[in-house]
Amino acid sequence: MNTKKTKTKALKIALVLISFLINAPKTFAQNNDTKSQKIDVLESKIDSIISLLTLKEKVDMCHAQSKFSSKGVERLGIPEIWMSDGPHGVRAEISWDSWEYAGWTNDSITAFPALTCLAATFNPILSGEYGYNLGEEARYRKKDILLGPGVNIYRTPLNGRNFEYMGEDPFLASTMVVPYIKGVQKNGVAACVKHYALNNQELWRNEVSVEVSDRALYEIYLPAFKAAVIDGGVWSIMGAYNKFRGQYCCHNELLLNNILKKDWAFDGVVVSDWSGAHDTYESALFGLDIEMGTGTDGLGSSTANHYDNYYLATPFLKSIKSGEIDEAVVNDKVRRILRLMYRTNMSSNRPLGRVNNKEHHDIARKVAQEGIVLLKNKNNFFPVKDENITIAVIGENATRSMTAGGGSSELKPQFEISPLAGLKARYKNATIVHAMGYATGPSVYDAIIPSKLNADSLRVEAIKVAKNADIVLFFGGLNKSHLQDCEGADRKQFNLPFGQDELLNDILSVNKNVGYILMSGNAVEMPWLNQVNGVMQTWYLGSMAGQGIADVISGDVNPSGKLPFSFPVKLKDNAAHAFGESSYPGINYTQTYKEDILVGYRWHETKKIDPLYAFGYGLSYTNFNITGIKTDKKTYQPNDKIKVTCQITNTGNLDGAEVIQVYIGKPKSEVKRALKELKGFQKIHLKVGEQKNAELTIDAADLAFYDESISDWNLEKGDYKIYIGNASNSINKIININIK
Ligand code: BGC
Repeated sequence: MNTKKTKTKALKIALVLISFLINAPKTFAQNNDTKSQKIDVLESKIDSIISLLTLKEKVDMCHAQSKFSSKGVERLGIPEIWMSDGPHGVRAEISWDSWEYAGWTNDSITAFPALTCLAATFNPILSGEYGYNLGEEARYRKKDILLGPGVNIYRTPLNGRNFEYMGEDPFLASTMVVPYIKGVQKNGVAACVKHYALNNQELWRNEVSVEVSDRALYEIYLPAFKAAVIDGGVWSIMGAYNKFRGQYCCHNELLLNNILKKDWAFDGVVVSDWSGAHDTYESALFGLDIEMGTGTDGLGSSTANHYDNYYLATPFLKSIKSGEIDEAVVNDKVRRILRLMYRTNMSSNRPLGRVNNKEHHDIARKVAQEGIVLLKNKNNFFPVKDENITIAVIGENATRSMTAGGGSSELKPQFEISPLAGLKARYKNATIVHAMGYATGPSVYDAIIPSKLNADSLRVEAIKVAKNADIVLFFGGLNKSHLQDCEGADRKQFNLPFGQDELLNDILSVNKNVGYILMSGNAVEMPWLNQVNGVMQTWYLGSMAGQGIADVISGDVNPSGKLPFSFPVKLKDNAAHAFGESSYPGINYTQTYKEDILVGYRWHETKKIDPLYAFGYGLSYTNFNITGIKTDKKTYQPNDKIKVTCQITNTGNLDGAEVIQVYIGKPKSEVKRALKELKGFQKIHLKVGEQKNAELTIDAADLAFYDESISDWNLEKGDYKIYIGNASNSINKIININIK
C-alpha cells in the first residue's frame, strides 16, 4: 500500500472536514452577531472536533512534543502550538530536544526594555503599544503563545528575576499588565501571564513551599493575575515552579481549579512552567492543561520518545483507559486548547506580524525614555548640556550586552546599542574616553569565573581616565549573569558586585563630578550616595538602550519614570528580610511571608522606616506644581466612584511629564492595614508653562480588604484618608472622606 498517498488523501479529507467545521456555522454567526451566540457557535464547533478525536490524540495535545511546541492532529488539520519566551522580546529558536540554540539566521528581533522599565513608565497606553509591537514580532516569528508577561510581586531585592516583573505594587502591576496583554493578543498570539503564583524568589524555586495568609494572597499576590484574566482576557497562564501550601503551583487545586478556573471563570489554557509538573493525578485533576519541559534535557534518561513519559502523556492515557480518571477531564483540557487555537493559529483573521521595523525600535526607545528614573540630581548635574567637554565613561556596563544572559528571557536582537555607542552618537563634539574599571568575564557564570583581564590595571586605567575628565559617568549596577539579575538563583548580596563601591570611591578621590548610572532590575545599596552628584536608574533597555540613555542624559528627553519598587537603605529594612530566614529564603524549603500584606512601600510607610528611594519616586528636569486638589464629595456610598481632581502646571523650563498618585488608607480599621495603598495614578505630559486638569476615579468598592472570616472582600464603613502626591512618601494633600 502506498502509505504516503493514503496519508495525503486522509489529510485532504481532514482539511475539507475541518474547513467545513470552521466555516459552516459562520453564516449563522454573521446573521446573529451577538457575542454570546458567537461563543455558542464556537463552543459547538469545538465539541464537534472533540467528538472526532481519539483518546490518544486528545492526550497528545496535553503535553510537549518538543522543547517549545505541543502536538496538533495532522489527520484533521489541527495545527501544532508553538511557544516562545518571553516578556520583553521573542527568544531565538531553540533546538527540538535540547536547550541549545537552533542556530537559525533569521530569528533576530527587537529587544524591548525589561518589564521593570515598562512598569516605571507608569503609562498604561505605552504598555499597550509595547504589547502590540512585541506581539507583532511574535506573530512574524510564527509563535502562537508568547511566554510573558511576568507579574510576580517584587518582594525582595535579591530575587534574580525581578527585572522580568512589574514591581511591588498590585495596583500598578494590574494596571500595566492589562493593556500589554490586549496588545499582544490583537495579533492572534496568546499572551501567557506568569508565574502563577508566589514565585517571588529564584532560590529553591523548585522546592520551596510558600505559606502566606489568604489576605496577602488576595490583596498583594493575586490581583495582577486576576486583572490579566478578567480585564485583560488573557488566553493562557503559566503555573509557577514553587509550591503553595505544600502543593506544586502547576497543579494546585486552590490556585488553579478554585480561584483561576472557578472564581475568575478563566476559559484559557494553563501551561506548566518547564519541568513544573510532578504528578499525573494532580496535573490531570488540579488544573494543568499543557505540560511542558519535563525532564532536564527534553529527552530525560529514556531512549524512546521522552515526551511519551510526561505525566500528562502515557500515564495520563492509562489512567483514563483504566477508568481511574474520567475522559471528561481530558475533554476539558482539549476544549481549552482548541479555544486557544481558534483565537490564534486557527483564527481566520490573523495579521501577519512584523519584525525589526522602525516602529518597533521607536517604541522600544520611547519606553526606555519614559521608564528611566532620575534618582539624584545635585546642582543640576543632569542633563549634561555642554558638548565641548571630556566625558569619562567608566564601567563595564557601558559596553556590555544586557540582552545576553538572564535565563529564559535572553534575547538575540538584530542590534543592541550600548550606552557608550549611544553617547558617542549624541555627543559628537565631546571627547569621550571609556575605561572598563572592572570586568566580569564573558560567560553567564562570570560572577564565579573571574575575568582574565587584570583587575588592578583596569582600576588604574579608570582612575587615570576619570582624573583627566570634566565629568565622570559611571555605568555600573548588576548584569545578566548567574547570581545577578538572572533566572535560577538569587543575588547573594545587596551591595554592588565586582568591587564597584571601592572603585567608585577611588574615582571620587580624583574627580568629584560623578554621575552613577545604575543598570539593574533591582534595588542596590548605595553607601557612596552622598558623594556622587547624580544617580539615574536605567534598567535593561534592550535594542535601543544607548539612544534611550543618551536621550535622557543629554536632556533631549526629560525623565519621567517613577520607581515601581522601593529602594531600602539596607537589606534588613525590606519587609521580607525583617523576619529572618523563615521569611526569606525559608527553612527546610518552607517559608512564611511574615510581613504579610506589608510588602514594599506598605512596610516602609506603615513602620516608618525611611527608604533610600521610595516607590513612585522619580525626578524631572522641570518642576511641577499640583494645586486645587479635591474630591467631588466627602461622603460616599459603597457603589460610588470617588473622583479626585487637581490642576498640574509645568513651572520649569522644559517640557516634561509628572505622575499624580492617589493612595488611600484607613486609620481606624478592624484589621491591620497599610498606612496607604496606591489606588490610582495618571501620567500627564505638559509643555513649558502648560496647565492641565487631572481627574482620577476610584471605585469605593476597591477600598475593601480581604476578610478571612468570610473568605470574601469586605468594605468597611467609616473614615478614610486620601493621599495625593507624586511618590509614596511625597504627599501634597491629605483629604478625609467617609464611606457610609
Ligand atoms: C522559566 C519560564 C520560561 C520557561 C521556558 C522556565 O525556566 O521559568 O519563565 O518561560 O523556562 O523557557
